[in-house]
Amino acid sequence: EKSKSSIRGAFILFEGCDRAGKSTQAAKLFESLDALGVPVKLWKFPDRTTLIGHMIDKYLKSGHDLDDRAIHLLFSANRWECKSVMKDILLDGTTLIVDRYAYSGVAYSAAKDLELEWCKSPDIGLLTPDIVFFMDMKAEEAAKRGGFGEELYEKKEFQEKVRDVFMLLKERTWETLDARKSVTELYEHIGKMSLKIIQECKGLPLKEDLWK
Ligand code: ADP
Ligand code: TYD
Ligand code: MG
Repeated sequence: EKSKSSIRGAFILFEGCDRAGKSTQAAKLFESLDALGVPVKLWKFPDRTTLIGHMIDKYLKSGHDLDDRAIHLLFSANRWECKSVMKDILLDGTTLIVDRYAYSGVAYSAAKDLELEWCKSPDIGLLTPDIVFFMDMKAEEAAKRGGFGEELYEKKEFQEKVRDVFMLLKERTWETLDARKSVTELYEHIGKMSLKIIQECKGLPLKEDLWK
């Protein structure tokens, strides 16, 4: 009999610019895995429920004056404070679907012209996702989706810069998807790939070497 601790869940990440369809696909994946009886949890960053998360939420809603490096470090701290819980969930055999992570952290800050390596450094050593679904589309097209909201970063020119940085961050684990496709068409691919990754990860050790 295989001991429970040798089976871990998969860390599945959705990344991309605002309005690309990350939350839609993350929710859809959660519902279908759950319906299949796969142990699964849904997480999102920023996690606005924590104390640090409250500060981030306030910043995003008011656009209040905070040094670019200071807010960058808060976003990173928000991931670090969740690391041990995320680790426990994965080691318990539960798959974790995450909506935004350190790649967003770097993309949005580097788009403000902070240095790329400086932006990456506070997130070094976080859990590494097993697969990243990068939902890619031009800011111009994303803006047409019900229009951008009131939050700080929802401006076309800025989003285009963010997209350029995301491109620089692509790794072996990235699946770039054409976010202009229909919700159903995108999901067909995402669902299949996710089941494959969940199988592949079962016997593998957890990776805690982001950008190492
Ligand atoms: P994100 O989480 O990346 O910001 P959302 O999933 O919230 O994006 O989607 C943004 C908007 O676009 C929502 O109104 C959503 O219903 C719509 N949407 C999501 N995916 C698609 C798609 N594939 N095609 C058209 N509209 C979409
Ligand atoms: P999010 O809550 O995902 O926005 P929404 O649900 O409206 O799509 O993210 C809020 C904003 O925070 C988004 O513009 C991206 C930005 N962000 C950073 O700048 N750094 C980070 O580390 C993260 C996770 C998000
Ligand atoms: Mg979202």
